[in-house]
Amino acid sequence: MSTQESIEKYRAQIQDKVAIVTGAASGLGKQLSKQLANLGAKVLLVDMSENVENVSNEINAKYDQHTSTWIVCNLINPPSIQIYFDRAISTFGHVDIVVNNAGIANSRSLFSQPDSQELDEILAINLRAPMEATRIAVRYFKAMGRPGVILNTASIGGLMPISLMESYGTTKAALIFFTTTCKGLAPLVRVNAVAPYFADTPLVENNRLVNSFPLVKQIGLMKPDKVVRVMLKAICDETLAGDTLMVAMGTHAQRVDFYQGLTLQVTSFIAGGTVNKYAVAASSFFMNTLNSIIGYLRRPLPHSKEY
Ligand SMILES: NC(=O)c1ccc[n+]([C@@H]2O[C@H](COP(=O)([O-])OP(=O)(O)OC[C@H]3O[C@@H](n4cnc5c(N)ncnc54)[C@H](O)[C@@H]3O)[C@@H](O)[C@H]2O)c1
Repeated sequence: MSTQESIEKYRAQIQDKVAIVTGAASGLGKQLSKQLANLGAKVLLVDMSENVENVSNEINAKYDQHTSTWIVCNLINPPSIQIYFDRAISTFGHVDIVVNNAGIANSRSLFSQPDSQELDEILAINLRAPMEATRIAVRYFKAMGRPGVILNTASIGGLMPISLMESYGTTKAALIFFTTTCKGLAPLVRVNAVAPYFADTPLVENNRLVNSFPLVKQIGLMKPDKVVRVMLKAICDETLAGDTLMVAMGTHAQRVDFYQGLTLQVTSFIAGGTVNKYAVAASSFFMNTLNSIIGYLRRPLPHSKEY
């Protein structure tokens, strides 16, 4: 089955929805925006690169002149997020899907950086911006009583330590953790993430660190359309909430169950060894997350489910 055929099943859920995609001028964000438009969504393309206008024009030429619009803004500036959110509403009337995809990779190890500039940037773009966009979107969906989906683009670098990518990996690990903490917002708002292995996009092409990794030299890069297919899965699959889907060279994406196992372990530790009603009570006292812990305990024990 071709990628195109495999994503057709999402048409009914995407048709006539309004989506915001950040980092839409290039790579994964550009491809996802095109696929969302292809499946019948209206899309606001957000990027700091002026090229976002060309991508929007390309989409509108192929479908309808009202299919997409664009806004140039730098997500490093906190007010920009409310500005593009408001633009989506003023243009399309409402918002259904928010994709926090824009991101940067560190160009050299944290410990080779002479000052904090690069660290400040990567934290602001890769972590603060998606969290702020999620805050704004969740408040909007709740106020409207309108179901919404938020997708965060994390990375496999947030699941395993990659040498010299300390800052990048840490922002992506935090984004996965943040996504997990949003589980309780479902069913009204589903927040999910994807954690791709390296894909063939300008981010990788222009990063000499990534290009020097033996792993990349040995097994190569993924095609971006494979990641986009999994992004659509994370948006459309109503059984996923607070979940992260890994996608790499194998055929299937896989849900990350790490935090379920860890939550059980920590809950048990807090209560002194056993997972029982006292453990749940103790952990809720300390973490104030009783509902999500009970939710985890009701789920099957850690396993890997394939998608
Ligand atoms: N390509 C990969 O191998 C890979 C793997 C895992 C995760 N990711 C993640 O996927 C996402 C997309 O990456 P990509 O590979 O498509 O990269 P890319 O460089 O092709 O696209 C990223 C886009 O984000 C935009 N952007 C960056 N900083 C911005 C800012 N401050 N404000 C507004 N826009 C900004 C860029 O202009 C660019 O258009 C990123 O979050 C990245 O971390 C990529």
